Formats: sequence, C-alpha cells, structure tokens
Amino acid sequence: MDIYQGLKNRRSIRKFKQTPLSKEQLRSYVDAARMAPSAANMQPLKYIAVNSKEMGDRLFPLLKWAGYLAPQYNPKELERPTAYIVVCADMNIRKNGYEADMGAAVENIILSALEDGVGSCWIVSVERDKLRDLLRVSENLEILCVVALGYPDESPIAVEMKNQDVKYYLENGRLNVPKRSLDDVLVEII
Ligand SMILES: Cc1cc2nc3c(=O)[nH]c(=O)nc-3n(C[C@H](O)[C@H](O)[C@H](O)COP(=O)(O)O)c2cc1C
Repeated sequence: MDIYQGLKNRRSIRKFKQTPLSKEQLRSYVDAARMAPSAANMQPLKYIAVNSKEMGDRLFPLLKWAGYLAPQYNPKELERPTAYIVVCADMNIRKNGYEADMGAAVENIILSALEDGVGSCWIVSVERDKLRDLLRVSENLEILCVVALGYPDESPIAVEMKNQDVKYYLENGRLNVPKRSLDDVLVEII
C-alpha cells in the first residue's frame, strides 16, 4: 500500500463482510500499535483483542455508531465488525496524559489493518463500565476506546465540505464524509 494514498483514501467503515480475521492479523495490528510514538517513551497503552463471534456479539451493543445518522446507520446484524481491539491505559504506568499516545497507536492499528484490506472504525462512544465487566478488565486498566475491525462492505468517500457543515450524510446509499479543504486548514507556509 502506498502510505500517502492509503491515508488519504481511508474512511471509517461501519458495514463489514462477515469474513473473520485471524489471530495473527490482530497480533500484527497490536504489534504496529506498540511501535507508535509515545510521550516520554512511557508506553502506557495495553490492548485487548476480541475475535470470537460470541464475545463480539456481546460487545457490539456497548458501542454507539455514526452519531449524525443514528440509529439509521447502525451496522445491521450481518454488517457487524468481526473483531475489536480495546485500547486501555495502564494506570500503573501513567495516570494521565496518554491521549496523544492513544491517537498515535490507534492510527497505527487503523493503517496496518488498511494495508491488509481490513476496514476499521475508531469508537470512543463506549459503555465503559459494561465493557469492563464483560471483558473482566483489571482495575489498573482505564478503557480509552475500541477499534472495530473487519473486511469493508461499504465504500464511503470524502467530499468537499460546504457551509462549514461537518455532518456526514448518505447520497445514493453511500456515506459522504465532508472534509475541510487544504486551503482552509493550511494557514501558511512561511
Ligand atoms: C476520537 C474519535 C472518536 C470517534 N468515535 C466514534 C464513535 O464513537 N462512533 C463512530 O461511529 N465513529 C466514531 N469516530 C469516527 C468519526 O466519526 C470519523 O472519523 C469522522 O466522521 C470522519 O470520517 P472518516 O474517518 O471516514 O474520515 C471517531 C473518530 C475519532 C477520531
């Protein structure tokens, strides 16, 4: 995969084929995550991968999807992710200041999956207490977010943002994701 094209064309995926991922794939995405930049090189993040259908079925209802189109665009039964990586911060290593680490690590998961042809959605709207109980997450781990994974069964596109409207929308059944223009975000090259 050409990294630049990959990261420009990547879109969040919320409809998935039901082809499972292998344990090795999930291990390789976490392996990529652990190599991400980390403030003071503390590396406070820990990961729990969920690959079984049974656990996935119990985890799925704890996530909130596509806020601007909810509940219409929630994945249907046969569109659900086939795997998840739960990203946690280990309080024994660092008690705060891990958000930037999370961003870098999640992007590594997303891009390593993308190279594999696997789509993803980064989800922060998570029922954390229920997820903690479900996965028996130990007390020292703070649940930060979940990356939902699976082979894409949709092809959302980025479109030019109009009238500062950030809301993604459906057009002919395809998700359109408004992006601010380069001229809008690049203040200056000095
Ligand atoms: C920090 C963060 C939290 C997000 N949380 C959710 C979420 O809870 N549910 C969801 O469906 N998408 C979530 N997303 C995905 C965004 O909606 C998506 O990235 C945005 O609409 C832009 O679309 P794109 O990823 O296709 O470029 C989140 C993204 C980020 C970066």
